[in-house]
Amino acid sequence: MTSQKDSKKLTSYGDSGFSKFIRQAFNRHLGFEPEDYDKPVIGICNTKSEINRCHTHVGPIVDAVKKGVLMAGGIPLEFPTISLGEINTSPTTMLYRNLAAMDTEEMIRAQPIDGVVLIGGCDKVTPSQLMGAASADIPSILITGGPMNNGEYQGRTLGACSDCRFFWQEYRGGQIDEKSLGEINASLAPTAGHCMVMGSASTMAVCAEALGMMLPEGAAIPATDNRRMKHAVDTGKKIVELVEKEITPSKIMTEKAFENAIRALMAVGGSTNAVIHLIAIAGRLGIKLPLGRFDELSRTTPLIANLRPAGEYQMEDFFKAGGTPAVLKEVKSSLHIDELTVTGNTLRETIDAVEFSEVYRPIISSFDQPLHKEGGIAVLKGNLAPNGAVIKPKAASPELLKHRGRAVVFSSTVDLEKRIDDPDLDIQPDDIMVLQNTGPVGAPGMPEAGMLPIPPKLLKQGVRDMVRISDARMSGTAFGTVILHVAPEAAAGGAIGLVKTGDIIELDVESRKLELLVSDEELDRRRDEWVAPVLAERGYTKLFQQHVLQADEGCDFDFLLPVKNKSQKKVPLKSN
Ligand code: FES
Repeated sequence: MTSQKDSKKLTSYGDSGFSKFIRQAFNRHLGFEPEDYDKPVIGICNTKSEINRCHTHVGPIVDAVKKGVLMAGGIPLEFPTISLGEINTSPTTMLYRNLAAMDTEEMIRAQPIDGVVLIGGCDKVTPSQLMGAASADIPSILITGGPMNNGEYQGRTLGACSDCRFFWQEYRGGQIDEKSLGEINASLAPTAGHCMVMGSASTMAVCAEALGMMLPEGAAIPATDNRRMKHAVDTGKKIVELVEKEITPSKIMTEKAFENAIRALMAVGGSTNAVIHLIAIAGRLGIKLPLGRFDELSRTTPLIANLRPAGEYQMEDFFKAGGTPAVLKEVKSSLHIDELTVTGNTLRETIDAVEFSEVYRPIISSFDQPLHKEGGIAVLKGNLAPNGAVIKPKAASPELLKHRGRAVVFSSTVDLEKRIDDPDLDIQPDDIMVLQNTGPVGAPGMPEAGMLPIPPKLLKQGVRDMVRISDARMSGTAFGTVILHVAPEAAAGGAIGLVKTGDIIELDVESRKLELLVSDEELDRRRDEWVAPVLAERGYTKLFQQHVLQADEGCDFDFLLPVKNKSQKKVPLKSN
């Protein structure tokens, strides 16, 4: 009997002949002959969702990938996986990133496919797919739905969702009225696609390209541009070639490739979320990326892409300027250019093909005349964050980067919401706002609550930025002097949970210092009084809280690391 290749994974009935026979009967449903399944079978991981608006439009992209697969002699078979959209997921998509990664990995492993095309886009989908693909390790290519086109309001370019936050703050400060806010709201997300500033979605797409897991230029082609369809067809053709050449993610995502991705992250001033995601993806391959390495690479990579929220332009402009390959060309001297990519060639060939036009210098600066001599993310340490914290200095107020102030503590997002608008809130512009219990275990899921709202009483005085510290994340589209990912988190007994209103905190970004100026004796006393939070009693949230790693370890589940690399141990579950 011909039909399914013997190597394809069979359903287990205890009779492999019967398993092949029944599969042959059922696989006629699409009109293919049994022999057709001997060609490279390409799974297309379809994340289309009407709730996740960043993926609503991916149907035609899937169709274009299919065309490419067929043209190259493969069989394309789409299948659904979890789709995560930032705006419509409660309490936060980060709670479900690992679930999506497990879904992706297990469906790749379980189904009879030789290669896979992953359709990413919205913030957590892209990293979850790369995590799953890294673990499953069959030939894989990532493509995204692409960024939205620019929005516009009264001659001003709008960007989701930096301007969502900017104009909401202006509204809270009484600077714009409800009618204007409504008009702006209608223009903030004007087309299909994911957020079009250099937020987390765009950042992860750039990182995927620099890692070598996406075909060149894929990160920046707007969702609505015909060239995204061409890119999708090319992706479909290429995955068949990768299957034939047996080029798997572990051959592409090497330690050096991750360093290239970190360089790209720093050069474009990308999202702090990428730090967590890159650690998690690398962890799946047994590669450790310590926070200190991010800081070292940031110190030695110039910021050259002038992109919001740290700069002026957006993804549509970035695409015209040449996108990721043009950035990589500028920082070529600091890259490992002999790393393999999904092109089947090395990064060197991608970079050598770039023809940069000087008219786009306002968008991508040169290596010699960068926007800033260092990259976009700094890693802080001190007794308040023994295992590290991150800040985006270029999205912060320069005068606050060295600051000493009185802590004003909020014990949770609920406490924050209850008190922040109180006109009697005891808070001054020089104070430091501290938000506790918003880490991976505490919230749970580490929501993007780190850009704490400025209290209205201070907004009305003209205050637009303050130092804010939390164990939460913030959206890559957000801005301000915001210190994030404090590890260990409060719910894990971290020092951030011991801070009290009135304590003095010292921040010095240049020397990478974050200190709580409270004696060790007093901190020990507070630690003795600390009460661990009550955790979920059932379901996925219980699994999450029991197994999630801290921010500096990538927030993956401890049991998803490769066994040989498993250094972290959690308390074993009771069997009952
Ligand atoms: Fe999906 Fe911003 S909401 S990328």
